[in-house]
This record gives sequence, C-alpha cells and structure tokens, in this order.
Amino acid sequence: MESHKFELLFPQDKISQRITELGRQISTDYRDKNPILIGVLKGCVIFIADLIRAITVPVELEFISASSYNNGQTASERVDMGRNPQKRLTGRHLLLVEGVVDSGKTIASIKKKLELEKPASIEVVTLLDKPKCRKVEARIKYVGFDAGEDFVIGYGLDVDQSYRNLPFIGKVTE
Ligand code: IMP
Ligand code: MG
Repeated sequence: MESHKFELLFPQDKISQRITELGRQISTDYRDKNPILIGVLKGCVIFIADLIRAITVPVELEFISASSYNNGQTASERVDMGRNPQKRLTGRHLLLVEGVVDSGKTIASIKKKLELEKPASIEVVTLLDKPKCRKVEARIKYVGFDAGEDFVIGYGLDVDQSYRNLPFIGKVTE
C-alpha cells in the first residue's frame, strides 16, 4: 500500500458538533415528511451512521452505489449506477447523503436517475463540499464543511480504498 502525507483538517469533535447541527436542521425541515435517507456508497458510511442518529424525526434508510471512471482525466466523465434501492420512491421525500461533492457529476447523475421515480422531493446533504471544483451544477441543500480544493481523506473518504477508517478528516499534502 502506498502511503500519503496528510494534515489534520477537521478534528473529531468539530465533525461531531457539525453533524449534530445538521441533524437538528434536517429534523426541523422534515418534520411529518418521513424522508428516506439514501446513502451514496461508500464515502457516506461513517457520516450517515452519525447523521441518522442525530435526526429525531421518523426516517428510513437506503443505499445507492455509483462508480466513476477516470479515463485518464482528473474528473470522472461517466457515472454508472449500480444497485438501486428496491423501495418505491414515488411521492417520497428523498435526502441523498454524500461524503464529499467535488465535480458534482455523481450527485447530478444520481439525482437525474432518481427523478424518473417521481419522488416528492430530492435534496442533498454532504459532509464536505468543494464548490470550487464543480464541473456541473449541483444544488446542495445541507453542507457540513467547505473543504476548499483539497483532496480529503478519513471519515469514510479514501485514496485507493485506504484511510476510510481515520476518525477525523485530513487533507493529503503529497
Ligand atoms: P464528484 O466529482 O462530485 O462526482 O465526486 C465523485 C466522487 O469522487 C466522490 O463521491 C468521492 O468518492 C470522490 N472524491 C472527490 N473528491 C474527493 C476527495 O477529496 N477525497 C476523497 N474522495 C473524493
Ligand atoms: Mg474514492
């Protein structure tokens, strides 16, 4: 395994505090809506486990996976949808849960696909956002932190499948 140098960006206590705030805000906005949280694998997993416990209104949980292909380019040009939630989404309030939004392509393509099911609403919550890296428009309703343009790891986020287990968020320095 190749090792990377990184610096601490967001410590555990700050992440936990911010997720509590997001949970509170989502609980207010989704009161009486029984939303379905749809986690975008795999980067969402640590975040969604915390977030769902910070939500105090009834909520359901599903997952979706999307693989991106780089084709030698920096940003992914194509996103394939893998397994979809089997549940009926028509008329339901969907909240997509991401670890990080970068170019916006993953979220845009998942949204487009889910819109075919005619849900009542689709919104996005991401732990980290990199708005300066956007290549396509993606409206994100709830953001944990702005990560600038750094490549971030930990708290579910990886470089080549490693570092997902770090209990904090770091930025890769080399
Ligand atoms: P997109 O460019 O918004 O489509 O982001 C696609 C995916 O790239 C994310 O779901 C992550 O899996 C990955 N990604 C983008 N930026 C980072 C990063 O800074 N750290 C780790 N993974 C990232
Ligand atoms: Mg990755």
